[in-house]
Amino acid sequence: MSDDPLDSALADRARRLQRSLASPVRNTRMAVVIGRLLGLAVVLCFLTGLYSHLLQEPPDWITFPTRPTELYRWTQGIHVTAGTAIFPLLLAKLWSVYPRLFAWPPVTSWPNALERLSIGALVSATLLEVVIGLINTYQWYPWPFSFRAVHYGLAWVIVGSLLVHVAVKLPEIREHWRRTAEEPEDLSGEEIETPAEHAEEKS
Ligand code: HEM
Repeated sequence: MSDDPLDSALADRARRLQRSLASPVRNTRMAVVIGRLLGLAVVLCFLTGLYSHLLQEPPDWITFPTRPTELYRWTQGIHVTAGTAIFPLLLAKLWSVYPRLFAWPPVTSWPNALERLSIGALVSATLLEVVIGLINTYQWYPWPFSFRAVHYGLAWVIVGSLLVHVAVKLPEIREHWRRTAEEPEDLSGEEIETPAEHAEEKS
């Protein structure tokens, strides 16, 4: 506990706010399950996008297959479909974890600062990437920059910050990758009462 009254007041405020936003579905397992789908969609977008980039700017050392002729149609179809799926997945993921934003103190150590910075980069770059990607499918360019250059650059920012995020969260990801029926926890690590336990307690 800090001696600074302002610090203690803010910590108390943050705790109360997080408690008021707590929900049985806002738990680490949910964050991992949505994160898995989101990660898959991002990887599909990155690989198909990289293929598109290399086709348009082919290096000397790669010879691309010219058959089947509809290959690019498939890879771009996968790209736009997986990219569009990122919208609801990202919103669901943000909804499930945003109470963590209100932690006080906002940064507790260097690794924690790196983690929070990488999440900021990951979320903002992904939001911008999917929004400009979607607008591009309408062949509408309401910005002064080159769509391809920015979309390509952001893809690397997303993959880099995603790798940092996964590395930092690896222990939690491993623990919650599979469903463990007993003792679910909310995002703060507190145990959650399951609906069955709640009903049992009432009867
Ligand atoms: C995390 C999500 C995404 C990643 C990592 C990603 C990555 C990429 C990359 C690397 C390229 C190649 C850029 C180049 O040619 O230099 C590309 C192209 C493209 N992306 Fe995405 N993208 C994402 C989301 C989206 C979304 C949501 C859409 C649309 C709904 C989209 C539509 C397109 C289109 C249409 C192209 C072809 C651009 C052209 O050549 O004119 N992308 N993407």
